[in-house]
Amino acid sequence: MITILGGTYKLTQQQLSAIVSRVTSGKKLIVVSNREPAMHVRGAEGIRMVRPASGMVTAIEPFLKAVGGTWVAHGSGSADRLVVDAHDRVGVPPESPRYTLRRVWLTRKEESGYYYGLSNTSLWPLCHIVYKRPHFSRADWDTYRGVNERFRDAVLEEAGDGPAIVFIQDYHFALLPRLLKTARPDLQVIQFWHIPWPNREAFRIFPWGEELLDGMLGNDLLGFHLQYHCNNFLDTVDRAIEARVDYEHFRVYRGGRPTYVRPFPISVDYLQIGEDVSTAEVEQRRSLFLQELELETGGPKLMVGADRIDYTKGIPERLRAFDLLLTRHPEFRTKVMLVQLAAPSRTHVEEYRRLNEELDALVDDINWRHQTEQWTPIRFLRAHHDYYSVLAACRMANVLLVTSLHDGMNLVAKEFVSSRTDVDGVLLLSQYTGSARDLVDAVQVNPYDIDQMVEAMVKALTMPKAERRKRMSRMRAQVAKNTVYGWGDRIFQELEQTQARGDSP
Ligand code: F6P
Repeated sequence: MITILGGTYKLTQQQLSAIVSRVTSGKKLIVVSNREPAMHVRGAEGIRMVRPASGMVTAIEPFLKAVGGTWVAHGSGSADRLVVDAHDRVGVPPESPRYTLRRVWLTRKEESGYYYGLSNTSLWPLCHIVYKRPHFSRADWDTYRGVNERFRDAVLEEAGDGPAIVFIQDYHFALLPRLLKTARPDLQVIQFWHIPWPNREAFRIFPWGEELLDGMLGNDLLGFHLQYHCNNFLDTVDRAIEARVDYEHFRVYRGGRPTYVRPFPISVDYLQIGEDVSTAEVEQRRSLFLQELELETGGPKLMVGADRIDYTKGIPERLRAFDLLLTRHPEFRTKVMLVQLAAPSRTHVEEYRRLNEELDALVDDINWRHQTEQWTPIRFLRAHHDYYSVLAACRMANVLLVTSLHDGMNLVAKEFVSSRTDVDGVLLLSQYTGSARDLVDAVQVNPYDIDQMVEAMVKALTMPKAERRKRMSRMRAQVAKNTVYGWGDRIFQELEQTQARGDSP
């Protein structure tokens, strides 16, 4: 039965699965993304499976587990080739597969031009307004196009001759929708863009804008997190390419057929996180943290961050604010610790290497100036932290810090809220995240304003328990109302409507 919560549907896996089966009605469902949901890596103890740090994976995995299908992605784990079958496929999870992962192998040159190059030194800074200059290279663009063609071939193989719905994730595949439609006009193609879409002035500098937009207009349905990003996209199209933009119905006609553009704010598996947080795995990670940080229960209060090391996440900004907090408010010395879980990311890109150096120097300097024999103010844990470790850190946090300079959604904020079944803990949240639109009970900050950040930290650290509970229970109700299953439901309902209008094959 569907539970009505504040007028919105709260869906379970099974309910979503039923809805998607109705919409797909026998068609294959194929998800495409660059990052794979499960990487096989070689370690001392043999081959193990790792779930990468990715908001996109956090959201799409539960969705595909619920509805089943095939996930086509770049095989990037060191042992990936050892576990696939003759068609480069492997079931996930291996013990009782819920979906099939089809791996696509890229050469180092392809990975360099398409992933590190065009995707992450051109499109990533172009779409996130964080004052990092994007770099453009024609060779990278050619490689990007070539890799989009490789994924087209893999998807067509997976689709076979029958009908299929292809659900593409993210900015790595702007050209794929058009490539698929040209090869197979009967395929239904949806794309979800997990990062912001910039305003048309910012987009204008992209040298191959027309081809990129034409690629995206191969979609039947194109989703962004926010209405604001949809508006930006329509404005960009209106300005840059020959197409009819219908602002009233939020659709674009190019070559006689429409692409519907809609906001679908993404979320997490609220109920599952709430269950997982009390498992033995989380308890074990908590003990490991306590050991590693040499903490005892009742020790200093913890402010926790859990991010990929990315310049969009505002990590130096939060460290500088913490430094100023300790200088302006000496009463917090020895009483508070900042624990940063930091997953290395895109380290072949120069900006990311520089950020790592900057962070090392900052942590070293701040600790050197403030530490005592018993207390180190910042613990910077640079490693890939698995799902259970992130949940353990969320539960240990008195304050969770999300200080992104710009973020499409930021699912760590929603994971934190879902994990706090104890209805406690404070979320300090950048107003420049998509999550800030829903989580109005967080302590919201402008991460560019260091004084405001210090005040917000003081407020969060000294907030009375009754207020913490009030805010957390409202945020929990908010995330419970809009889980990742509701997100999937809205996308597939919308696709069903385009079918009903006869706009989609
Ligand atoms: O959501 C944006 C995104 O770029 C995803 O596509 C990606 O998986 C995640 O962030 C992490 O980045 P990466 O896959 O480059 O490590």
